[in-house]
Amino acid sequence: MSRTDHRLIQLAAMASADLQAEWQAYFGETAPTLPFSLLRRALAHHVQEIIDGALPAATERLLNVLARDPSARAPDPATRLKTGTRLLREWNGKVHAVLVTEDGFLLDGRQHASLSEVARSITGARWSGPRDHETYPDALPDPWMARRRECASELYGTLRIGREDRAARHAQTARNWTGFDAPCILFCHTPQFMVRAQWADMGIWLQTVMLLLQEEGLATCPQGAWAQAGTTIRELLDIPKDNILYCGLAIGHADPEAPVNALRTARAPLAESVRFVGV
Ligand SMILES: Cc1cc2nc3c(=O)[nH]c(=O)nc-3n(C[C@H](O)[C@H](O)[C@H](O)COP(=O)(O)O)c2cc1C
Repeated sequence: MSRTDHRLIQLAAMASADLQAEWQAYFGETAPTLPFSLLRRALAHHVQEIIDGALPAATERLLNVLARDPSARAPDPATRLKTGTRLLREWNGKVHAVLVTEDGFLLDGRQHASLSEVARSITGARWSGPRDHETYPDALPDPWMARRRECASELYGTLRIGREDRAARHAQTARNWTGFDAPCILFCHTPQFMVRAQWADMGIWLQTVMLLLQEEGLATCPQGAWAQAGTTIRELLDIPKDNILYCGLAIGHADPEAPVNALRTARAPLAESVRFVGV
């Protein structure tokens, strides 16, 4: 019988007081208030880690990546990188050096769990993912997150789509791909090398186009969703490959009978977004 088996059998036979004493011996602190079955399992896990060794760092790293993004792909074993390898990549005229470490990848003194994270930190965009650019930060704090939820709940409420009705939600999202039945869609894109200031310019430009179209009696719906289809739209419309698709703008006549067009989303009070000084 192996040492691990022996210790696991011992643990299985222990009464509550013994398990608590065992915990104290291993961790140097009082056992947490957990059901004894869980305490036993946690100890069994720990014992196996001590005797047989913990998960290899690469496996743990992979599990952490998958926990954050279940759609992430496991690296091909043949392409795993050795600790200490230095990777050099040029982006936007600057050479970036990444050091492969036991725990991940080191870029400019900061540790990253995956190369996708490194790429994201360099470019500010999730290039390996399907989107041309992110719509929101990963962890959007309140009040923005709360407003986003409120806006979605008002939208789906107007459309009479329940919170749990995933099929109906997907069907509604899919309506983006017909521009919500608009006869015309404008696509707004920019070369990759542009920085935040030019992205702000695009927003200003888009707003002006929307106002001008409204003056002409036309309605518009900006559609960030198109950032998911950058590759297809670039191919279809002969847009240079180095351009990022910011969004689409559906243009047409609004259906006055559609309840969704009567929705006016809530606005934060002026005092929340503007601070008047000296008045
Ligand atoms: C830049 C931008 C991108 C948007 N992307 C989408 C989208 O992809 N799909 C969608 O249904 N609504 C999208 N919206 C929201 C609608 O276009 C519209 O703004 C919303 O229905 C509420 O209108 P309001 O902003 O006038 O309150 C986007 C809005 C903006 C400003």
